[in-house]
Amino acid sequence: MTKSITGGTPRVGVIGVGAIGRIHIRAWGANGIVPVAFADANPEALAATVAEHGGTSFANGQDLIASGLVDLVSICTPPHFHRPLALAALDAGVGALCEKPLARTLEDASVIAEAVARTGGFLTVGFCHRFQPQIEALKQMVDSGDLGTVMQFRNRFAGHNPDVERTWFANPDIAGGGVLTDTSVHSIDLFRHLIGEPVRIQALTSTRETDLGPLLSVEDTATLILQTADGTIGTIESSWRTPVGEWTVTVFGTAGTAVVDYDDETLRVKRPGGDWETIDVPPGDRFTREFTNVLAAWRGDEQLRATVADGLAANRILDAAYRSRTDR
Ligand SMILES: NC(=O)c1ccc[n+]([C@@H]2O[C@H](COP(=O)([O-])OP(=O)(O)OC[C@H]3O[C@@H](n4cnc5c(N)ncnc54)[C@H](O)[C@@H]3O)[C@@H](O)[C@H]2O)c1
Repeated sequence: MTKSITGGTPRVGVIGVGAIGRIHIRAWGANGIVPVAFADANPEALAATVAEHGGTSFANGQDLIASGLVDLVSICTPPHFHRPLALAALDAGVGALCEKPLARTLEDASVIAEAVARTGGFLTVGFCHRFQPQIEALKQMVDSGDLGTVMQFRNRFAGHNPDVERTWFANPDIAGGGVLTDTSVHSIDLFRHLIGEPVRIQALTSTRETDLGPLLSVEDTATLILQTADGTIGTIESSWRTPVGEWTVTVFGTAGTAVVDYDDETLRVKRPGGDWETIDVPPGDRFTREFTNVLAAWRGDEQLRATVADGLAANRILDAAYRSRTDR
């Protein structure tokens, strides 16, 4: 076991070059880093990536990690593979940016967190929404008391995920769960980030056969209610079967209500007796900003803003949410 050798400019590898892997390649590039190695179980996807970006290709992530070519890896595979890849990286002294959820199960997440503690390794979780500029501005409003006492939080991340039944997202053995695990894990992290640690957790989930698709083995629609010890209540909604998408985060306080809308990338605030006002927030790409923090933390200039503890906490809340559903 070796502690990650951090500092300077890391040589980066990307494991899993699907949808989010491609975004990682772009976000590394936006930070001046061209990944030097790629791994994917799909030979065509791997060949296309290397043809476009150069670098060395590996059929599996463990070989990439063991190659000695990289200091830091993006883990962009489906959740089932996060645990073995994170452990391989930590044991090899290679840093990791592991996509959300940290792991498929709470047990896997706990094992990764223990490995980080044991090795002193560098590992962060892909909670990119913390870096959305309007969310950063909303956090400042909440933390400064600008909205007064926060009474409620509401977040809907929902849309249509066509043909999801044909993908790993609908396979609980690979994904861990459905839309609650896939999408609401971001919302859970936002609740913890903006509001605080929930002590009460209650979920309702469903899957139904509709015009948009068949019954799934996992939930396609979920509502999760969280509450902090001091009483703030959060409502989190997600669905893969509501084609009129909504991507909003709202905080309701005694001194005002603030809404982040991802559709037009705005932060709007309304005070008691006032009109809606749009707050001026400089635009920015959340992934680019996330990776800027990762690199600054790698150099020792900043703290990681999404830690393994945050990933573990989100997995713990997901686990409690599913149990709240089935315990009834
Ligand atoms: N942060 C975000 O906003 C965000 C967005 C999308 C996905 N994600 C997360 O990223 C991960 C991947 O999601 P995706 O949408 O990119 O999926 P995807 O299916 O588009 O891509 C996954 C890739 O991993 C490859 N793969 C599968 N098993 C592998 C293995 N054992 N070793 C190497 N490669 C393997 C597949 O061939 C595929 O190319 C998931 O954990 C997902 O939750 C995060």
